[in-house]
Amino acid sequence: MQATSTSKAPSQSTHGTVAPLVARGSRPLTGRARMPGDKSISHRALLLSLLAVGRSEIEGLLEGEDVLATMRACRALGASAERTGPGAYRIHGAGIGTLLQPTEALDFGNAGTGTRLTMGVVAGHGIDARFDGDASLRRRPMRRVLDPLMRMGAEIVESDEGRLPLLLRGARDPLPIEFESPVASAQVKSAVLLCGLAAPGTTTVIEKEATRDHTERMLRHFGAQISVTKHGAHGSRIALTGRPELAPQKIVVPGDPSSAAFPLVAALIVRGSDLVLEGVLANPLRTGLFDTLREMGASIEEVARHDAGGESVLDLRVRASSLKGVDVPPERAPSMIDEYPVLAVAASFAEGRTRMRGLAELRVKESDRLAAIADGLRANGVDCEIMGDDLIVEGRGRAKGGGTVATHMDHRIAMSFLVMGLASEKPVTVDDSSFVATSFPGFAELMTSLGADIAAR
Ligand code: S3P
Repeated sequence: MQATSTSKAPSQSTHGTVAPLVARGSRPLTGRARMPGDKSISHRALLLSLLAVGRSEIEGLLEGEDVLATMRACRALGASAERTGPGAYRIHGAGIGTLLQPTEALDFGNAGTGTRLTMGVVAGHGIDARFDGDASLRRRPMRRVLDPLMRMGAEIVESDEGRLPLLLRGARDPLPIEFESPVASAQVKSAVLLCGLAAPGTTTVIEKEATRDHTERMLRHFGAQISVTKHGAHGSRIALTGRPELAPQKIVVPGDPSSAAFPLVAALIVRGSDLVLEGVLANPLRTGLFDTLREMGASIEEVARHDAGGESVLDLRVRASSLKGVDVPPERAPSMIDEYPVLAVAASFAEGRTRMRGLAELRVKESDRLAAIADGLRANGVDCEIMGDDLIVEGRGRAKGGGTVATHMDHRIAMSFLVMGLASEKPVTVDDSSFVATSFPGFAELMTSLGADIAAR
């Protein structure tokens, strides 16, 4: 069977036309703000609901473009999804082994996580699915996921050197494997585990550096048998028993620490700020930025803590702080991989040198983030250097600003430099903010409600 072919043009962002924004020196940021749902957990909540027969309920789902693309893919694979309120969804899952063959290409827009995790799901089923996305996603490497999935029996029927658009043929009888990932990537680990759900026996993933563990936690929540043991100094060994009977669940998605990072750094660098950020996920595999900022002298105080679906969730009080440069070790990268752009902004306002080590993975994100960060900093008068896989920022306690930043279809580059503009001497312009809606819909409005001066150019 062949999935319907797709056009050659990459998909456009569905959230609108190019939208430059300018951020200007702002009054102190004050008040309280609830953070949008965690993007990683939202993707997984949808995919596991698809794989559990019956009705799952999700609350707090991130309604960003990336997650909505995964929801469309889940529908094409056989789930029904009904919105019952803001961020609230009722999903009827199809179950492991009984997915439908999609009749059209699965278009993931800008979303690497949705693509790679869904590849894992498809790879374990005897169906064909065509994967596609926008120009940014079409540039990103998929081999890292496809190689282990092919060992499990999946086939690439068509692709341009392992990039999208791509036609994947899942395995009718997937094989369990033991896989040691050459890259520290939660997406790769998760794709193998999701395929392993449909394989008999035990699928094992070994990672040298532990990465975010939301797939493991959620698999357990849905009733799968999964064991996690330590592997070496920083890694883990994850063993999943295949073909479990997943039971539908209620899932409450906590606030995204990777989104909280933007108002948090803004509050640290805009003089006089005092903010409370509510409902932020505190999974230790996601909070490397908070540790790093505290080492830099940031005032980040835990004012409340509660539990939601097996994860700790915090309210954080953040006050403007004098920061100093630090050395960020490479083994911390997996726990803050998406936060380096905004950490680089914080480092610009610190006194002294910050060296962020081991950032090779930043080159294959929504943009080449290492280059995009360095270009954006230089455009705004901040001295920096890339040495091998390290980024060095010379902090002078302030940034000139005045530059226009090329965002390269990357939401986190856009938000990071808007944050810079709130505290720099001259305004900072970002050439296109439309991709912000992939992970943080309503970002500019929320920041403005806290006192930020962000406006259309
Ligand atoms: C994610 C894993 C990370 C991260 C991405 C979300 C996930 O990517 O950068 O934003 O939800 O598994 P890698 O797995 O490529 O490191």
